Amino acid sequence: MNNFSERTAVITGAASGIGLELARRAAREGMNLVLADIENARLEAAAAELNLPAERVLLRKTDVSQESEIAALADAAFARFGNVHLLCNNAGVGLTRVTWEHSTADWQWVLGVNLWSVIHGIQHFLPKMLEQGDEGHIVSTSSVAGLLSTPGMAAYNVSKHGVVTLSETLYGELLAAKAKVGVSVLCPAWVPTGIHQSSRNRQERFGDAAPAAGLSAAYEERMGQAVKRGLLTATDMANEVFSAVSEGRFYVIPHRKINNAIQLRTDDIMNLRNPTQLP
Ligand SMILES: NC(=O)c1ccc[n+]([C@@H]2O[C@H](COP(=O)([O-])OP(=O)(O)OC[C@H]3O[C@@H](n4cnc5c(N)ncnc54)[C@H](O)[C@@H]3O)[C@@H](O)[C@H]2O)c1
Repeated sequence: MNNFSERTAVITGAASGIGLELARRAAREGMNLVLADIENARLEAAAAELNLPAERVLLRKTDVSQESEIAALADAAFARFGNVHLLCNNAGVGLTRVTWEHSTADWQWVLGVNLWSVIHGIQHFLPKMLEQGDEGHIVSTSSVAGLLSTPGMAAYNVSKHGVVTLSETLYGELLAAKAKVGVSVLCPAWVPTGIHQSSRNRQERFGDAAPAAGLSAAYEERMGQAVKRGLLTATDMANEVFSAVSEGRFYVIPHRKINNAIQLRTDDIMNLRNPTQLP
């Protein structure tokens, strides 16, 4: 799909970071916007900054981990704009702890926001997108964590591997169905955004994560620094996404230096070698 003007984009996690940049880029492309986020005040601030005519924007406070809220988002988007052409399943949260210090609530929070959201997004948007018979594209935000297994982020890694394989599966199926809807998966490495303050959005029902100590604290500190020092920006991610959608490219891996680590993991698997640990 390379014509965006007057088409409709639905973006989750649109109040901050990569989602906000996707919204800015979609707005510049002349798209109608459906912006969803759990942080309503920041979502409204983002929309105010975009300064689009009211008829081009729909804001919706949404907890993407809840199927009923994604279903309501889809209903509202199709009711308002008739069609949806670009769905960006982007909202996500991070948690850094050693695996044995992830509580059940930690797992449920991270898998709910990062993986179930994408499952529900596909369930509730794709059949209608296919029905409309128009060109369309689904972009789900995974991570290089969906291609590697970095210590200290088990739930995050599991969720992001899930998003990669879900998207790869869907790619084959849409091709077999000769559908006009394409799919891409965005796998960034470190990007300076609000991801390291994800606990700000942890829903009350999960309680707080136990404080990180020892190895968990060391991993947390390291991840925080890595995010802060990320060389590519959220704007770079949005630009890569729009190029990939225009080209019909599935893998969107903007940090090309990560290729070495992906290759190393593949070689470990091919050679039945134990997982190589990077410094
Ligand atoms: N920043 C990075 O280094 C990095 C790297 C790889 C992948 N990612 C992925 O990029 C995506 C965007 O994250 P970001 O880096 O822009 O972080 P961010 O924290 O700046 O933005 C994430 C957005 O998701 C929203 N959100 C959180 N929980 C939600 C929920 N339950 N329902 C709806 N919205 C919710 C937040 O309010 C926020 O606006 C995530 O999926 C993240 O995992 C980020």
